Amino acid sequence: MTSRHQDEMKRAVAQAALDEIRAQLDRQTVLGVGSGSTVNHFIDLLGDYRHYFDGAVASSEASAERLRRNGITVLDLNSVGPLPLYIDGADEIDDDFCMIKGGGAALTREKIVAACSEHFICIADQTKRVPQLGTFPLPIEVIPMARSHVARQTVLLGFDPVYREGVITDNGNQILDLHSLMIEDPGAMETRLNDITGLVTNGIFAHRGADTLLLGTELGVERHV
Ligand code: 5RP
Repeated sequence: MTSRHQDEMKRAVAQAALDEIRAQLDRQTVLGVGSGSTVNHFIDLLGDYRHYFDGAVASSEASAERLRRNGITVLDLNSVGPLPLYIDGADEIDDDFCMIKGGGAALTREKIVAACSEHFICIADQTKRVPQLGTFPLPIEVIPMARSHVARQTVLLGFDPVYREGVITDNGNQILDLHSLMIEDPGAMETRLNDITGLVTNGIFAHRGADTLLLGTELGVERHV
């Protein structure tokens, strides 16, 4: 549940992200835009600048729809080159800018857009900053017929998987949330989870973490690089 106070911090980092990228926009620029409530603020602010850039690639159907509602052209990732900038939120981010993402079930497309982007700006409020990843349950996207197999494999790694009932991803798959394990080595765990057959994407963003963190705090927005 997002408090009003937390929502104000989310809006402030969204504004800071817009301030950060505004000078880099030109009529050829295609932005990568992520998903979630913090990004929603960013999309709403970006609408006023829609004539200053070409369009955006969205990491979810919900973000694509919101972009269109704000008059921003949504482009297919396959028809554009590498993206100069990707702006997205996080569920947790550590000191090395490794993240847990996927609280909104958009992790697969988020990881794809992040992989195609030259610079990842993470926008988050201070509740997301952690010394170690793992308090927030780690989302993984699974092929439906493999759900039980994948769950058993994650138990062998020490996780406690919980099926996110009623949620179907934009790719037609299901989500398991992995509880009860602090992640000591995010890069190694990202690789290990990638090895499980039937697991589409895991929500650890370590191999492609953030480059810049804009963190909303009670005292204002902090910029970390
Ligand atoms: C969606 C995500 C979001 O970036 C993450 O859940 C943060 O969301 P919010 O800005 O609402 O706190 O990974 O899959």
